[in-house]
Amino acid sequence: MNKKLGLASKIIIALDVGTRKIALSLVKKLPEAEVFKIGLKLFTAEGPSLLRELHTAEKKIFLDLKLHDIPNTVSGAVEIAVRHEVAMMTLHASGGKEMLARAVKAATQAAKDTGRPRPVLLAVTVLTSLKDDQLKEIGFQADTAAQVLKLARLSWETGVDGIVCSPLELDLLRREFPRDFLIVTPGIRPLWAAAQDQKRIMTPAQALAKGADYIVIGRPVIKAPSPQKAFRKIMQELA
Ligand code: C5P
Repeated sequence: MNKKLGLASKIIIALDVGTRKIALSLVKKLPEAEVFKIGLKLFTAEGPSLLRELHTAEKKIFLDLKLHDIPNTVSGAVEIAVRHEVAMMTLHASGGKEMLARAVKAATQAAKDTGRPRPVLLAVTVLTSLKDDQLKEIGFQADTAAQVLKLARLSWETGVDGIVCSPLELDLLRREFPRDFLIVTPGIRPLWAAAQDQKRIMTPAQALAKGADYIVIGRPVIKAPSPQKAFRKIMQELA
């Protein structure tokens, strides 16, 4: 994906809904939104046919399946995602160096073979649902910040395009990596929106000012009485 796109392409709308019907009605209500994130729930419900429908609506797709498996399986899934013309997709950095490197190679090769764009590959470092104690339970000795940094570095070294992280990790990560290493942050709340279960939040303007390349917003837009008005309000705040 072109890194110098307009403002609307920096706002990724999380289609965290359970059916094609609701998803497409939201897409229709958001004509100015360009990128939509499809996660595990919606993809499990509706599968690749929904990806085709988003293409028909001329939208870009962020496929957020957080792949984590043996290198052969992950690279196979990445290759198929290229065929679906996914613009961005996620994989778990903790899947290891070989898994990440094979994913990058598969994306590049499949893009070459099909003439389709190579998707932006984003690594997920530490799930924000895990705290230091829980990391220890699964065998990670480092605290969260150190573990995030370690996995971000591993991702960068393997040629992954960027990472997904909390807005509160932006300062740390922007200091450590070149500017073209992409950062995508969820946990975004405009001042006028309720925080819901997000605890470590920032406004869209703060996150972009601190160096996020893309921000992911779900409920403040998709649950708003008028999703279009909410989206426009965010655009105006950013302009
Ligand atoms: O509704 P809300 O704006 O909180 O949605 C944020 C989106 O970002 C959801 O799809 C959620 O799964 C995702 N996400 C997150 N925190 C992370 C990683 C992903 O909120 N650390």
